[in-house]
Amino acid sequence: MIILGIETSCDETSCSIIQDGLVLSNIVYTQKIHEEYGGVVPEIASREHDKRLPIIINKSLSESRIELSDIDAISVTYGAGLIGSLIVGLNFAKGLSIGLNIPLIPINHLEAHMFASSIDNPSFEYPFLSFLVTGGHTQIWLVNNMDDYLLISDCIDDAAGEAFDKGARILGLRYPGGPEIDRLSSNADSDFIDFPRPFVKSSPMDFSFSGLKTSLYYYCSSIDNKFMNNNLSNIAASYQEAIIDTLLDKLRSAIDKYDVRNIYISGGVAANSRFRSKTNLLFGNSSLNISFTDLKYCTDNAAMIGVLAYMKLENKDFNIDSNLSQEPIPNLSLE
Ligand code: KG4
Ligand code: ZN
Repeated sequence: MIILGIETSCDETSCSIIQDGLVLSNIVYTQKIHEEYGGVVPEIASREHDKRLPIIINKSLSESRIELSDIDAISVTYGAGLIGSLIVGLNFAKGLSIGLNIPLIPINHLEAHMFASSIDNPSFEYPFLSFLVTGGHTQIWLVNNMDDYLLISDCIDDAAGEAFDKGARILGLRYPGGPEIDRLSSNADSDFIDFPRPFVKSSPMDFSFSGLKTSLYYYCSSIDNKFMNNNLSNIAASYQEAIIDTLLDKLRSAIDKYDVRNIYISGGVAANSRFRSKTNLLFGNSSLNISFTDLKYCTDNAAMIGVLAYMKLENKDFNIDSNLSQEPIPNLSLE
């Protein structure tokens, strides 16, 4: 079974070829043009997807030495994401599906992040806690099986990725802010400032990062430019540490509350090097099977779209329901 995966939910144009669940190719084109605007411009993102998608599909096919006529099904993200970007990917996929007379499998982007943790992970098994830390979501799910998910922790305002991006903006760093703060913090003093570790009194399992971002804003407003420039990496590292501590604090609460051995962490923020090293420091000697998604599958990619489509088919004994009427859903959730 050969599946073509397509992902265009935000500013990555990506295509993959998945054969019997294995990733043969995963081409990701990150639209650099948004850097000059300090964030993703939706209209530009749609146009870029439109321009790049055929090129990226061809690259994906040639890298895996697969012909278009060899493909058995097409999987594509239909939400969540930017409406224009989703429309481009979904309509392209529908056209290919009709033209090649093969089924179309619409995929939930967030669910794909969740199962990206299964790629190249020989110890992947149910049940597991899925810690989803993306640009728009910070959630912990109890996953008993495919399609059997229970939401344990959610975010009441800015997600962790948003906290990185907005914090980076306050610090005058480039978009996307997460990798910038990560890089800048690598040899810096994370105890330089004691930023608050946010806690939601009314729902202690949930996340909130907007207050932390405001603390950074007030701190930066209280210092002069020279001090800021001289201590930029220490300020960034202290801010990053507060985000990571908050993530790990809730993860520990979830682990204590639910008797689950397998914990898989995924989404763009899972690429953060301090998140990875501190998790290892805290849980490395425990009996938990705690693992981060492979770096190349943390941020948006089409491999996770194709692999989830394969897992869903496998789960239904390969009875494929083609769904050509699926509309894009920008605010699609997993609940
Ligand atoms: O999962 P993702 O690629 O897209 C969404 O579905 O949202 O996540 C993007 C987010 C951005 O906020 C980006 O700043 C963050 O992931 N990110 C990072 C790192 N790499 C990407 N955050 C912290 N450290 C990183 N190394
Ligand atoms: Zn994503």
